[in-house]
Order: sequence, then C-alpha cells, then structure tokens
Amino acid sequence: MATVAIHADKLDKWFGEGEARTQAVKSASFDANFGELVYIVGPSGSGKTTFLSMISGILKPNNGTVEVDGIDIWKLGKDAIADFRLNKIGFVFQDYHLFPRLTTVENVAIPLFLKKRDWNHSLDEALKYLDIVGLKNRAGLQPVKLSGGEQQRVAIARAIVGGPEILIFDEPTASLDGETGRQILKFIKTNILNDHRCIVVVTHDSRIFEFADRILKMEDGRMVGTLEVGDHVE
Ligand SMILES: Nc1ncnc2c1ncn2[C@@H]1O[C@H](COP(=O)(O)OP(=O)(O)OP(=O)(O)O)[C@@H](O)[C@H]1O
Ligand SMILES: [Mg+2]
Repeated sequence: MATVAIHADKLDKWFGEGEARTQAVKSASFDANFGELVYIVGPSGSGKTTFLSMISGILKPNNGTVEVDGIDIWKLGKDAIADFRLNKIGFVFQDYHLFPRLTTVENVAIPLFLKKRDWNHSLDEALKYLDIVGLKNRAGLQPVKLSGGEQQRVAIARAIVGGPEILIFDEPTASLDGETGRQILKFIKTNILNDHRCIVVVTHDSRIFEFADRILKMEDGRMVGTLEVGDHVE
C-alpha cells in the first residue's frame, strides 16, 4: 500500500498587511505518496513557489498543516526544522541560489559539508553527481562562468547529492533546451525516484509531462484539479 510522503491541509499564505495584503495561497490541500513524481502546473503568480516553500519547511503558512513522513513540520522548533530541511528535503530553486564564490563542485558538496561529512570525500561524491548531470568538466568553474541551463543542472546535482527522501523542483527545466530537460527528468524518474522517495515538480514545460505520475493544477492560489498527462497549459 502507498505510504503518504506529504500531506498538506488547507494551507493559506498571505503577504503584506491591510490594503497591500495579497493572498498567494488559498486553502490549498495536497497529498503525495512515496514512489510518486507529482507535478504542479499553473499560470505565473498562481502561488506555486509559495506553496512549495510551505511544504519544504522554508516558509511558514498562516493557516493549515503540513505533514511530511508523518511529522507535523510547522510544530517543530527552529533547530528541528533546519535539520528537517537539511536531511529530508532537496530543493531546486527557480533562480538556482548557487554560491557565487564557490566552484561548481564545491556548490554541490555543500549539503554534505553541512552534514559534517569529510570535505574531500564530499568533493568526490559531488563530482559523481556533476557527472550525472553532464557537468564534470565544469567542476572547477564558478557559477558565473556557466550558462543558465548549466547552473540549473548544478542546482539539481546539489539537491540530489545527499540522497534526501523528498525532492522539490521549482521549474527545473525552464532554462534548458528541450532535449536536455527531457533527459534530466527521464534520469530523475529512472534513477532517483524509488519507493522511498517522493518528487514534486513545478513546471510550465509540457515537454516533460510524460514523466509525471500525476499533474495538479493551481490557479489564483487554489488547487483546482488534475490534468491529463497529454494536456497542455498556457
Ligand atoms: N515575498 C513576497 N512578498 C509579497 N508578495 C509575494 C511574495 N512572494 C510571492 N508573492 C506574491 O504571491 C503571489 C504568488 O507568487 P508565487 O511566486 O508563489 O507564484 P508562482 O506561481 O510561483 O509564479 P511563477 O510561475 O511566476 O514563478 C504573487 O502575486 C506574488 O507577487
Ligand atoms: Mg514560481
């Protein structure tokens, strides 16, 4: 029987106060099981990134609960939630968030460093993951020397290096050409997804829909239903 990886119940999130208040996410509920690759699609500004941040322990919801692997994450204290992010979650941000002064391989090794692994061993491990995303030959360069698509692949390598159970990708293929994007998703589906992992992907990219187990749609802050894998979104 499927085990629930993420259970989000009626999440609300707003920014600002009074006249300036915008509600980015409105009573959004969501479930994903271990072994599943779930996509969230929807127009720009519909609340996708905000939603991902709340299920990853990055941004606290105003209302609602998030359980990850049975843990009510927003009831955890500050240190426990930092540990949760480090150990359970691999997050690829829409704008990569690479460290500009570190080389590519050092960027990928950071999660292992934070887990207090030996640095040389971490660099070796990071190199393997750079190879997986096709960037071993860029290991010694700083991110500024890489194209947007290459930076995105570094961010993907960094998210998967420590083997987290929950992977969250915010537009992982936005700056990749179609074939590279498909190859990365195919790789993720074949080699990274397993019965002990759950992967959530926000995307506009219908070229990678075929790899999804389910596609959910967000509109104006709400989860509004499921798309068929063959459908297209604007
Ligand atoms: N930190 C913030 N402060 C104020 N408003 C915010 C903040 N973050 C998001 N918003 C607003 O919340 C709404 C949802 O934003 P969000 O980034 O979640 O959308 P999105 O679906 O990820 O869009 P995109 O596809 O363009 O990335 C938008 O109206 C946005 O302006
Ligand atoms: Mg976004």
